[in-house]
Amino acid sequence: MSISSRITQDIEQACHTLKAGGIVGIPTETVYGLAAVALNEEAVSRVFRAKGRPTSHPLIVHLSPQDDIKRWGVLNSTADLIAKTFWPGPLTLLVPRTRLVPDWVTGGRDTVALRIPAHDMTISLLETLNEAVVAPSANRFGRVSPTTAQHVVDDLGDAVDLVLDGGQCAIGIESTIVECTDSSVQILRPGKVSAVEIAKVTGLDISMTDGPSRAPGMLLAHYAPSALVELCDSLTGAQDRLEHYAARGTPAEILHHDDPAIYALSLYDDLRSADLRGSEVVMAVLPPLGGLGAAIRDRLTKAAASH
Ligand code: TXA
Ligand code: MG
Repeated sequence: MSISSRITQDIEQACHTLKAGGIVGIPTETVYGLAAVALNEEAVSRVFRAKGRPTSHPLIVHLSPQDDIKRWGVLNSTADLIAKTFWPGPLTLLVPRTRLVPDWVTGGRDTVALRIPAHDMTISLLETLNEAVVAPSANRFGRVSPTTAQHVVDDLGDAVDLVLDGGQCAIGIESTIVECTDSSVQILRPGKVSAVEIAKVTGLDISMTDGPSRAPGMLLAHYAPSALVELCDSLTGAQDRLEHYAARGTPAEILHHDDPAIYALSLYDDLRSADLRGSEVVMAVLPPLGGLGAAIRDRLTKAAASH
């Protein structure tokens, strides 16, 4: 496969493109984001158009460690503690917004999602740019998130101006979203930073969302390949299903890794590859719940709900 001319390692060029109102794929430790300067309404609207995403779905504001968080959000003492412990890192804080934050970022909500990503190239970019960027995952709406620069170009093609190539994302699934708007703390999307870790740091009981989600898009079918995703409780269960499909001549494959870190790292690439191989069904073996397991199960469950 040829490397697209849209892919670059030049931080200055990425900075220049963003400053000019362009949209740029940026590497983070979780997945690639589709960045635009947060305070540039026209640039942000191009992000929604490129993704095919409803504008009512709010975006995460990405900041550098040098930025003044208080310009963007109101952090209570718990939020402050979580930020100091886990940033830069794979965690997004949902907090009350300040007057600086425009409606086009939050979809008119009174909260804002903030994150300092742990990726050297993107931190350099943000420091050079000296502006915050919005960055949803750089995939078409509802599809599998990208974990390489090539995935971004494969998904968005001409719609993205440039992709900053920072290699393969180290974690492979999106950040943990933690709502911290009052004294309670709630996880709206599980990720690498687990409820147990947050409870340890804050000394609080951490609840996971159930019922209607407060983060739009979270309960919808999401993260879906073209293949049907079928959930299996065990590898032997998946092998039985594989035989069943083989007998019917249906191209099918098993998705399974013993190590949850490897499972997360390769999850989206595995789903993309299954489509490229022409598999019609992917039997995904659910990992145990602990640590990254909860986040992987969340994404697989949503992928399975898409058909
Ligand atoms: O790891 C990540 O978080 C990646 C990388 C690129 O940083 N970004 C990412 O963004 O996953 P996105 O847009 O694909 O997912 C963010 C989720 C969306 O479901 C959105 O609805 C929710 O966060 N969200 C953002 N701002 C919100 C707000 N003010 N209130 C409720 N939900 C919000
Ligand atoms: Mg996304």
